[in-house]
Amino acid sequence: MPTALERRARLLGPQMTTFYQDPLHVVRGEGVWLWDKDGRRYLDCYNNVPHVGHCHPRVVEAISHQAGTLNTHTRYVHDLILDYGEALTAKFSHDLSSLLMVCSGSEANDVALRMAQAMTGKTGIIGTDNTYHGNTAAVSQLNSSKVPVGGYQDHVRQVPAPDNMAPVGGTREGQAEAFAKGVEAAIAELEANGHGVSAMILCPYFANEGFPTIEAGFLDRAIAAVRRAGGVIIADEVQPGFGRIGSHWWGHERLGFEPDIVTLGKPMANGHPVAAVVTRPEILATFQDAFKYFNTFGGNPVSAAAAMAVLQVIEDEALVANAQSVGDYALSSVNDLKGNHDVIADVRGVGLFFGVELWRDGKPATDLCAAMVDEMRDRGVLLHSVGRYENTLKVRPPCVFSQDNADLLVQVMDDALRAVG
Ligand SMILES: Cc1ncc(COP(=O)(O)O)c(C=O)c1O
Repeated sequence: MPTALERRARLLGPQMTTFYQDPLHVVRGEGVWLWDKDGRRYLDCYNNVPHVGHCHPRVVEAISHQAGTLNTHTRYVHDLILDYGEALTAKFSHDLSSLLMVCSGSEANDVALRMAQAMTGKTGIIGTDNTYHGNTAAVSQLNSSKVPVGGYQDHVRQVPAPDNMAPVGGTREGQAEAFAKGVEAAIAELEANGHGVSAMILCPYFANEGFPTIEAGFLDRAIAAVRRAGGVIIADEVQPGFGRIGSHWWGHERLGFEPDIVTLGKPMANGHPVAAVVTRPEILATFQDAFKYFNTFGGNPVSAAAAMAVLQVIEDEALVANAQSVGDYALSSVNDLKGNHDVIADVRGVGLFFGVELWRDGKPATDLCAAMVDEMRDRGVLLHSVGRYENTLKVRPPCVFSQDNADLLVQVMDDALRAVG
C-alpha cells in the first residue's frame, strides 16, 4: 500500500514541496489549532489564509447557506457581490471605489499589471529583487527565486529590496533614499530601452522580502519618481491586508501612500479561493475597454458570501485591535529571548506578522533556521522561514491568536533554540 507521500509524489509531482522534514498530514482545523491524522494538536503560527481562524463557524455557515441557495457567475445580476463590493471599498480611505473579483492573488496581480498597461500605454514594470507576486506567466517575470525560462524579459526591472541586516545603501537611515535611487535607475533604463514605466508593484510590508523595518514615508521618493515617469503604483496587499498589521487595515495606509491599484487575496475569504483588484473607477473602465475580461468563478455568490462573512467577523471580533495588542505582546516577549540566545540577530514586525532573524559566526544561520522550523513542529508549534537566506523565522498566525497562544509560542521557541542552538 503506497503511503500518502508516495501517492502525492506520483500524482502531484516529485517537486510538489511539503513543509517540514517530517511532513504534516493534517485532518482538521479550528481557530488557531490544527490536528494531524494521529490526533496530535499543533498551534498554527504560520497560516494567514484562515485569517479569522480555521473553519470559523460563520464563514462555514455563509458558504454552506449560499451553496445551498444559488451559485452562478457575474454575468447575472446578484446582490451579494454588490453588498460585498460596497463593504470592502469602504475600508479604503482614498478614492478606490471599484473592484474586480478573481480567484487568486496571482490573477489579481496579473490583472493589475494589465490595468497599468491600459492606463499608461507602456509596458515597463518595477519590482524588488527578492520577491514573489504569483504564478501566471506575466507575474512570474517578477519572481526572484527562479529565473524564468529564457531569462527575465527586458520590460522588467528588479530593484534591491530593503533589508534590516544588509540595508540597501549600507545604513538603515539611508535605506529609503538608496531604495529610491534604485527605482530611479530602473526608470531611466526602462525609458532608455523603449518600454517606459507602466507600474511599480510592491508589497507595502515587503512580506516576501523578509518584512524589513520601514517607517511611514519610506516609499515616498520612489513613488514620486514612478508617478513623474507616468507609471501607476500597485500595492500587493495579499499578505499584510485585512488588518493583520494591527495599526491599520492595509499596509499602504501604514506607510502613508495612496496606491492606484490594490491587489488582495489569501486571507480574503478564510480559505475559499477569493481575490480582488481594487482601484479607481476610471482605471477599471480603461482596463475593460482595453481587454475583454471575464472570470467564470471570480465574484460568484458563494465566494462573495464567504468574503462578506470574513469582513463581518473581523469587525465583530475586533480582530484588527487583537492583531495589534497580541502582536505587541508577542513581539516584546520574543525580544526578551534575545538575552538567552546569541543567534538572535534581529526581531521585527508589526501586529500578527513578525519574525526572528538568526545569524551565527557573522553569517545568516540558514541551516539553524531550518532546524528550528522542524524542532518547533516536533514540539507542536507551526511556523516557517523567510528572507533572502531563509534565516528568519516567520510568524503569521490566524488573527484570533491570543496572549496564551503567544506565551506558548515563545516558550517553545526558547526551548527549541536551546535544543538546536
Ligand atoms: C505577496 C504575494 N502576492 C501574490 C501571491 C500569489 O497569490 P496566490 O497564491 O493566491 O496566487 C502571493 C502568494 O504567496 C504572495 O505572497
